[in-house]
Amino acid sequence: MNKIDLRSDTVTHPTEEMLKAAISAPLGDDVYGDDPTVNKLEALAAQMLGKKAALFVPSGTFGNQLSLLTHTLRGDEVILGKHCHIVAHEAGASAVIAGVQLAYFDDSGDYPDADEIERMIRGEDLHYPRTGLICVENAQSNGKVVSLDKLQAVKQMAERRNIPVHMDGARIFNAAVSLKTDVKAIAACADSIMFCLSKGLCAPVGSMLVGSEAFINRARKNRKIMGGGMRQAGIIAAPGIVALEKMTKRLEEDHQKAKYMAQKLDEIKGVHVLKDQLDINMVYCKIETHDPMKLVSHLQHNNILVNPEDEGLWRFVTHYWVGQKEIDLFIGKVREYVEMN
Ligand SMILES: Cc1ncc(COP(=O)(O)O)c(C=O)c1O
Repeated sequence: MNKIDLRSDTVTHPTEEMLKAAISAPLGDDVYGDDPTVNKLEALAAQMLGKKAALFVPSGTFGNQLSLLTHTLRGDEVILGKHCHIVAHEAGASAVIAGVQLAYFDDSGDYPDADEIERMIRGEDLHYPRTGLICVENAQSNGKVVSLDKLQAVKQMAERRNIPVHMDGARIFNAAVSLKTDVKAIAACADSIMFCLSKGLCAPVGSMLVGSEAFINRARKNRKIMGGGMRQAGIIAAPGIVALEKMTKRLEEDHQKAKYMAQKLDEIKGVHVLKDQLDINMVYCKIETHDPMKLVSHLQHNNILVNPEDEGLWRFVTHYWVGQKEIDLFIGKVREYVEMN
């Protein structure tokens, strides 16, 4: 990667080892269940998360929406955070695919307690939809990680109320690193988990949906309905195996780089880092500037890619392909801009 790309960890290219694994992967027709590489990836994902089964899907959005479709009935209500990816960044797919209605809790500050979520569960009344699912997200897209205590309390409450829990764990391995726990402990707080191979783990394509055998069997059929039955998919599953075996072990480095970047940014007059949103590989900050797009162009001009601010907040993401040298270069350019403007 020649440019310094801080827009997201979704921009990561595959490693050399992943490319080699892709071209030498044994292949078969995965819709027949014959692709040994996909089978290996699915078994590995299930084992690492401590669940019985897993399914390879094309993207995180696909995995989340497949989970909604598989858990719920049309017309159900799904309870989830207002800013979570399923609500904010999946183009209204839950209305189109699962045909469900969404009820939001406020996840902008401290993650809500289980009793706050429980109060949103619908009672028996002719006028009410059925509460079909509760969704949680960990790590959250705002750079925070939800504690195990909170997640366990939500799961216990949901079990008592007989409602399944789905976790958008796109960055569940980052969450595990941040909580200094085995990823299984986080996965135990949900019936199904979607996680991405294609973000900080650097695989070029794909996500996993993980859960019980019965759930994954139903999801496999629904994946076919959604057009996600892929044939010789081992070629893209092979980098996913490298992602799980190798790249999950190095995420702490990305978190340390984010903390370093945050500290350096915060030293610049006119830049204010949100230190309570610094649990993973993301840095959120405010930058005093009259023309945010001018900063984007200034950086772009210097081969650095960032997204424009969103509701007054900038987000910069560290990953495998940005080292300290690149971060120092970026800091220098932000300082240069802020001092000039
Ligand atoms: C928290 C979260 N969930 C789901 C997704 C969706 O993943 P994909 O882009 O593979 O559809 C993303 C993507 O950035 C994400 O950040």
